[in-house]
Amino acid sequence: MQQPRKLYVKSFGCQMNVYDSQRMADTLAREGYTETQDPADADLVILNTCHIREKAAEKVYSELGRLRKAKQEAGSDTLVAVAGCVAQAEGAEIMRRAPVVDLVVGPQSYHRLPELLRAAGKGARVVDTEFPLEDKFDHLPAPTRAATRARGPAAFLTVQEGCDKFCTFCVVPYTRGAEVSRPAAKILAEAERLVEQGVRELTLIGQNVNAYHGEGPDGRTWSLARLMEALARIDGLARLRYTTSHPRDMGEDLIAAHRDLPQLMPYLHLPVQSGSDRILRAMNRGHTREEYLELVAKMRTMRRDLALSSDFIVGFPGESEADFAATLDLVRQVGFAGAYSFKYSPRPGTPAATLDGQVPQTVMAERLFELQKLLEGSKAAFDEACRGRTFDILLEKQGRQVGQLIGRSPYLQSVVVTTPPAAIGELLKVTICDVGPNSLAGQAEDVAGQDFSAPSRPLAAMEA
Ligand code: 5AD
Ligand code: SF4
Repeated sequence: MQQPRKLYVKSFGCQMNVYDSQRMADTLAREGYTETQDPADADLVILNTCHIREKAAEKVYSELGRLRKAKQEAGSDTLVAVAGCVAQAEGAEIMRRAPVVDLVVGPQSYHRLPELLRAAGKGARVVDTEFPLEDKFDHLPAPTRAATRARGPAAFLTVQEGCDKFCTFCVVPYTRGAEVSRPAAKILAEAERLVEQGVRELTLIGQNVNAYHGEGPDGRTWSLARLMEALARIDGLARLRYTTSHPRDMGEDLIAAHRDLPQLMPYLHLPVQSGSDRILRAMNRGHTREEYLELVAKMRTMRRDLALSSDFIVGFPGESEADFAATLDLVRQVGFAGAYSFKYSPRPGTPAATLDGQVPQTVMAERLFELQKLLEGSKAAFDEACRGRTFDILLEKQGRQVGQLIGRSPYLQSVVVTTPPAAIGELLKVTICDVGPNSLAGQAEDVAGQDFSAPSRPLAAMEA
């Protein structure tokens, strides 16, 4: 029997890291670690880091500075590990800059955590950023029922890792390596287990998820659409999503899946990055503005209630006012329901970092402000159009007030549902009656003859 120890994991960046953090916690649960939300209370702290932009990477070093101070003040011997993409990209640099770090572990080596920690526990400073031949997923244990329940009814499931697209601004092909798809049978088994443990919604994740081409149980190569068709047959799995997609990989069968699979939610994250053909070419995105717009139009004919979100970069090297105006124009044309937008951040080793025409920070800041204003307006208009509509809401957690539960709409909006004596994990028909900046509020339909007609509280009160 292992002695009880406490683990604190902090995840930065994308959903892939959230999923990986959970797998690390599952691995360490077998070594006697239970999770804590308080780093001061932990025997082991893991920072699961993101390298996508400079700001994200720098956060690691400020966090490590805080940890060093806290450790010194408390005189504790907490082990500190750095995982994720900064670990992969700058392992040696981390060890040099941050003496507090005991272990650096890259995303492909998480299954080796127990042995690496044993070495680190004996005083060695350990770096493991190899791309090992074995599949880490074969060695990472599944979550316990209690862990799955604690994480709620909506779960992530990694189906693909890495990227071969080489967009000229992006470090992912270097940090996460070439594209690899997990075999479909393993994904199906993991999904079945999660559903059996109470999960109702699965988001399939991958850096380039719609490039999925895994080995099927029939020996053929399965596309993401084929995989989702099989997942949709799992009894009790109510919802499917997938992220993040590349416009170039929206195959005909995937587009058709949005029409044919009722479990597939009508909300798609489809990053376009820029609305200018010149910039799209310089980014090596492999599609034009028009091709993106045609794709969106085609998808909307398949599924009329489809909404889209996107990522944008402003200030890519050489971006002129006209290029930026083309991005604003594309945003107006598509009418996104959500978006992430960023200032271009030159990443070491990527082709764009050494291009001429780097855009000054002040110009980037102005463009980002203008773009975000437009995107926020677009999102607000979408949310407002939901008023009065009735959606299935997947209840995910308790609200702040008694009698409130918080769930998600098909469009990932957070919805505060008042009154029903319903359970987390249930899907309720809810009519949206209030729209706030961060969440919607709704009224559950009368179910099984019970009266849920109490008036909902105004959103401002709920969010206070
Ligand atoms: N600078 C700014 N944003 C970036 N992204 C990726 N690399 C960079 C970079 N170097 C953004 C893209 C991508 C999202 C995950 O992060 O918009 O879609
Ligand atoms: Fe990066 Fe482009 Fe691959 Fe996305 S598609 S991970 S932006 S290289």
